[in-house]
Amino acid sequence: MCGIVGYIGKADAPTVLINGLRRLEYRGYDSAGIAILDEGRIVVSKAPGKVSVLNEQARSAWPAARFDRCTTGIAHTRWATHGPPTEVNAHPHLDQSGEIAMVHNGIIENYRSLRVRLEAKGHQFHSETDTEVLVHLIGEYDRGDLFQAVCDALHQVEGTFGIAVLSAREPGKIITARRGSPIIIGVGDGETIIASDAAAILAHTQRVIYLDDNDIAVVTAESVDIRDLHNIPVTREIAELDMDAAAAGKGGFDHFMLKEIHEQPDSLGNAIRGRLDFNQGSSVLAGMGTSQRELAELRRVVLIGCGTSLYAGLVGEFAFEDLADIHAEVQQAAEFRYRNPILGSRDLVIAISQSGETADTLAAVREAKQKGAFVMSLCNVVGSTIARETGRGVYLHAGPEISVASTKAFTCQVAVLLMMALKLGRGRRFSRDDGMRFAKEIENTPALVGRVIQQNARIAEIAAAYAHHEHAFFIGRGPMYPVAMEGALKLKEISYIHAEGFHAAELKHGPIALLVQGTPIIAIACDIPGKSKTLGNIEECRARGARILGIVTEGDDEAAASMDDFITIPRCHPLVATIPAVVALQLLAYHIARLRGCEIDQPRNLAKSVTVE
Ligand code: G6P
Repeated sequence: MCGIVGYIGKADAPTVLINGLRRLEYRGYDSAGIAILDEGRIVVSKAPGKVSVLNEQARSAWPAARFDRCTTGIAHTRWATHGPPTEVNAHPHLDQSGEIAMVHNGIIENYRSLRVRLEAKGHQFHSETDTEVLVHLIGEYDRGDLFQAVCDALHQVEGTFGIAVLSAREPGKIITARRGSPIIIGVGDGETIIASDAAAILAHTQRVIYLDDNDIAVVTAESVDIRDLHNIPVTREIAELDMDAAAAGKGGFDHFMLKEIHEQPDSLGNAIRGRLDFNQGSSVLAGMGTSQRELAELRRVVLIGCGTSLYAGLVGEFAFEDLADIHAEVQQAAEFRYRNPILGSRDLVIAISQSGETADTLAAVREAKQKGAFVMSLCNVVGSTIARETGRGVYLHAGPEISVASTKAFTCQVAVLLMMALKLGRGRRFSRDDGMRFAKEIENTPALVGRVIQQNARIAEIAAAYAHHEHAFFIGRGPMYPVAMEGALKLKEISYIHAEGFHAAELKHGPIALLVQGTPIIAIACDIPGKSKTLGNIEECRARGARILGIVTEGDDEAAASMDDFITIPRCHPLVATIPAVVALQLLAYHIARLRGCEIDQPRNLAKSVTVE
């Protein structure tokens, strides 16, 4: 989704800003732009399409000297919300005077009424965006104090924003503020970098300040002065980023997605390390911040998330019920606060979010807190808004996930949910021996995933038989049902094949009508309870001409014989088996998308972190 970079310091700002935008490309966007301060004037360059287009445009249109002498600027990648991804709608936008430039993430909900008000005062707008309205409002309030003007304007707006504002009348500073959309300030040596995502800061410094909602900061090359919207100073700690620049590179793989799939033995190792207690047959998850007694008193677990994180939650639902005998349910985060969730202090709400910034999940967290539930998060990005607002939870430690299609975050989410369920289970039905056995199973997940990754070349060959279809259906039952849905999501996200995940038993209640000769059915038919029924459902599909690709357990010749093609996963506990099974589907989706020539890491229309509701 939209990305912000701002720079003020000693280096060539256009180059720093464009490199910063490149670091944000993974988030998904459809146009880009940059504004710099050059000899007392704001100069803007914007272009639909990729950052590389913007770079070429700026380098051919601007004199080389401009790159050398400009040390202040702001830049943006835009994921269209209000108006199509054209040059005129791209950020930065200028105020009426052309002397103030702004980039913005989020949505100004009352922009229409503000626009009418400003038009009545003679303002002329060039774009369809809500952002242009906000920068005009700032210009309207500017009486020689940009900071105050931004405060005054922000008091007028409803909605969400992360902004960076630059004025030709007040060089030497950038004003930045946030409400509901992240802003991180990198504190360098004689330079300061503002970004909506730490990835754009890494190359400069590891020392960062996370703004909280309604914080507004005056940033210079040497200082960061943070206040609230009433001009009262606030103190925010400097934190150390825990990722290094190397982790944000492709490491020799053709795509970030392939790299991240291959990283899973390591990322799972990191997610698990030090968190299994073999002595007690339990897990140690200090971030949960709960006593065993509080856990014993819990009445229900509610898992919330969106997209891939939602499907991880669905696996978690099985785990909490199976291992801990506790009622568990999954709720789609966007719906949560609109449906009067019945919650109390004995309900544990777990917000699952790789980025920790998804607007729907964040809104659900706030609702759950308001209702007095026991709320915790399961995030990957350290210091993200959801992680900070929940205050308790467990980090995935999966490392930066750059590819828009989530892979290693899913497997680490499932691993952590299994550890949470184990912890709850030990306070309830699980004996120490049961717990020890299950802890061993979790510990083994990196090796299980490694065995699937070894089949990469074979999976690439199998993919060729499925790459030319326009529809594909994934089926599974029990914990493999969410795996089927996640497999279908991966395939549709990156290959644009219409793919759906169904419960294997549900197929005959409607979807089976879609089958024609050769329709691909991807059946997760590993050796877990219910397998024989799934094999029966496969026969129903075969009888209607479908081509079957099975995910089967190593050594299960009966299941393998039912398939046209198969990929194996090692024998393990049915809940643990979700992890290697999904890795097989990730590789399948990857190779199909590659064969179809798709842009794998940045699929069309998608964003890595969706910060609008
Ligand atoms: C977007 C991404 C998905 C992701 C979902 C939830 O839609 O494209 O890959 O699963 O957001 O993101 P989160 O960061 O909350 O896990």
